[in-house]
Amino acid sequence: MPVSPILERQTTYPFVRLHEAARRVEARGIEVIDFGTGDPREPTDAKIKQALIDGLRDRMGYPAAVGLPELRQAIAAWAERRFGTTLDPDTEIIPTLGSKEAIFSFAQVVVDSERGKDTVAYTEPGYPVYERGALFAHARTLALPLLEQNGFLPDLDAIDEWTWNRLAVLWVNYPNNPTGATAPIGFFERLAELARTHGFVLASDEAYTELWFGEPPASALQVGDLTNVVVFNTLSKRSSMTGYRSGFVAGDPELVAALRAFRPTVGTAPQEFVQRASVVAWGDEEHVERARELYGRKRRLFLDLFAEKGVRVTGSDATMYLWVAVPDAEIPESSEGFAERLLEHGVLVAPGSYLGAAGEGYVRLALVPSEDDCRRAIAILEDVL
Ligand SMILES: Cc1ncc(COP(=O)(O)O)c(C=O)c1O
Repeated sequence: MPVSPILERQTTYPFVRLHEAARRVEARGIEVIDFGTGDPREPTDAKIKQALIDGLRDRMGYPAAVGLPELRQAIAAWAERRFGTTLDPDTEIIPTLGSKEAIFSFAQVVVDSERGKDTVAYTEPGYPVYERGALFAHARTLALPLLEQNGFLPDLDAIDEWTWNRLAVLWVNYPNNPTGATAPIGFFERLAELARTHGFVLASDEAYTELWFGEPPASALQVGDLTNVVVFNTLSKRSSMTGYRSGFVAGDPELVAALRAFRPTVGTAPQEFVQRASVVAWGDEEHVERARELYGRKRRLFLDLFAEKGVRVTGSDATMYLWVAVPDAEIPESSEGFAERLLEHGVLVAPGSYLGAAGEGYVRLALVPSEDDCRRAIAILEDVL
């Protein structure tokens, strides 16, 4: 049977491996508290659920790929309030089915190997979908390491002229998964300028902009001139709506027009009742404030524990993640070894190396278990660390 060699070459999605390991531990009767995957477990706000129910009709036809005008308007209004950026709902925004599908297929929309724009760059450790999307689009890939000594920003000075000119798209993701680092607006401004100079797209994955604890993080939507710039955002983390699948792409109208042309073929328009729920979600900040408070409390518990134990937490300015350095030991432990040791005691964390080579030496905690479970995990870690 023919199967794409790109698919065959793929290794198991790291989180599948992680959950297989957890099932093996559970089979031995050990209860596992899961800090592995960033899937929020808080209930979705009642108003949003009600809007979904009210959005059901006797017959639901195909949703239009461009999305409901009401939703595009709600997203524009949110972007204006949050980032002070005015977007045209008709030409600068398109709703997506969560952001993963849009991130995956974006290389297919912009890579142009015939004209030498054949390279997709992304940062690592990171969300694996930028690379996978690039591979399925037959693009060259370039991983840019995120190192602690550079504040987990890619070293743009290490990229040569030839490479800049071959880029079709450069992905950045701040606040960053997995390091929790944020980027200053100057970083986005410099990249937007480079994107225009070298004719590539700056694609900014901003899934975590709303989970912050100090100052609200910057967005590529704030660079002023959005030529060659697109931003991907989602309700998944902001509004605990991973199962709804609702996000958007916004930015350069030429790129949004390309997506409007591409997406009807792919069939990834969000269901209309989900779009109606999304209008309510983008229009409300109260539930987001509550989510930030809750993550903030859980975060404080772990920061206190790690400080007491002399375990170094780095990055971690925003997002639901803590990026924790593997503690020094006489016999050095890999991030996978450290994670395996914690899992043996029932605390599941993600080894940094699963998220990219530069993630070695760290583990990631997704602060998604309940506060009670966080306290139970802390009691376990008090003994293990
Ligand atoms: C960095 C990053 N981007 C995008 C996504 C995709 O989220 P969704 O497809 O639910 O919008 C995730 C999900 O974990 C993520 O971590």
